[in-house]
Amino acid sequence: MNLPDFVEREANLVARNTLALPAHAALYAKIHSADQLTLLAGKVPSRCFILGDGSNLVLTGDFNGLVLHMAIGGRELAAEDADAWYVRAGAGENWHDFVGWTLAQGWPGLENLSLIPGTVGAAPIQNIGAYGLEVADRFHCLNACDMLTGQTVRLDHSACRFAYRDSVFKQQGWHLDGRLAITDVTFRLPKVWQPLTRYADVAAELEAQGIVTASAQQIAHAIIAIRRRKLPDPAQLANAGSFFQNPVVDAAAADRLLACHPGLPHYPQADGRSKLAAGWLVEQAGWKGRDLGPVGMYEKQALVLVNRGGATGSDVMALMQAVQRDVRAKFGVELKPEPILL
Ligand code: EPU
Repeated sequence: MNLPDFVEREANLVARNTLALPAHAALYAKIHSADQLTLLAGKVPSRCFILGDGSNLVLTGDFNGLVLHMAIGGRELAAEDADAWYVRAGAGENWHDFVGWTLAQGWPGLENLSLIPGTVGAAPIQNIGAYGLEVADRFHCLNACDMLTGQTVRLDHSACRFAYRDSVFKQQGWHLDGRLAITDVTFRLPKVWQPLTRYADVAAELEAQGIVTASAQQIAHAIIAIRRRKLPDPAQLANAGSFFQNPVVDAAAADRLLACHPGLPHYPQADGRSKLAAGWLVEQAGWKGRDLGPVGMYEKQALVLVNRGGATGSDVMALMQAVQRDVRAKFGVELKPEPILL
């Protein structure tokens, strides 16, 4: 099949994933516009992966397919009504820069998601969330290119089927087969703004700074300070953020665990189940600050797996399995990886 000239061969991905894992892609294209996607539609090989900043990705080895590296830029006020601003950004925009830009424009609402790594286009795929807010709470719609037909598809909120770190992209496997390439995302930012400062870390940080009635900018600064303290900067220490999802268990299982482990942090869910703190489970299983070969679980946040230098995908998988095994043995809880394993 004849591929357009902008498709490269044997591209090195080591600098394109924040865990800094070595891997090559047989085919690679940097995408700056939706037109490039239209040119590629119908020609993509059966293995196709859509890459943002590579901040939620484990490259387990070389990728024998096409990597579409999304770099579509642009951000604008798409619409405004009496109740909300509708702000649109290209899939390749850096998430944190985009959040900072909305705040500078005077459109609050995304401040709790400051300093999350990655791109705008990746945000809805795993419904990024932090400090009491998820992208789903501010999402309006997105446009994507169907890579089989070249048609533009619009997905609204209900079509995305958001859940905790989940969406229709993951449910249908589109995040792994490159079927739909998100080109832009529109967020709805309500004009009546409510600060979300109930999360313990945020409340404590604002109190320490002597702030009683926080502005959106002040909340953003507090969250940036918390994240800088707890989470390693991938530019200094390679990592992919939280490596495991917080497991959600039924009420009976939560009660059983709490009877033996009263200190286990748990958050009741609307459906009666309980979300458990995976970081606590990993720490209690003895993995906080412990290494296995060139990888380890971070000393300040046990949920973050770090590459201390020279690791491969196999090293990451070995540590993942060792932590899962020990948490299963001690608590009977199954930890699921949060990043995409490719
Ligand atoms: N904890 C420990 N030991 C640890 C880490 C955490 O005991 O080593 C305990 C904490 O004391 C706390 C609880 O676990 O009681 C929760 O910890 P934290 O507030 O740090 O948040 P998290 O549940 O570990 C989640 C998200 C983060 C997000 C933070 C803040 C997931 C998988 N992770 O982490 O998201 O920034 O909440 O809202 O949901 C990411 O997804 O990459 C990410 C960083």
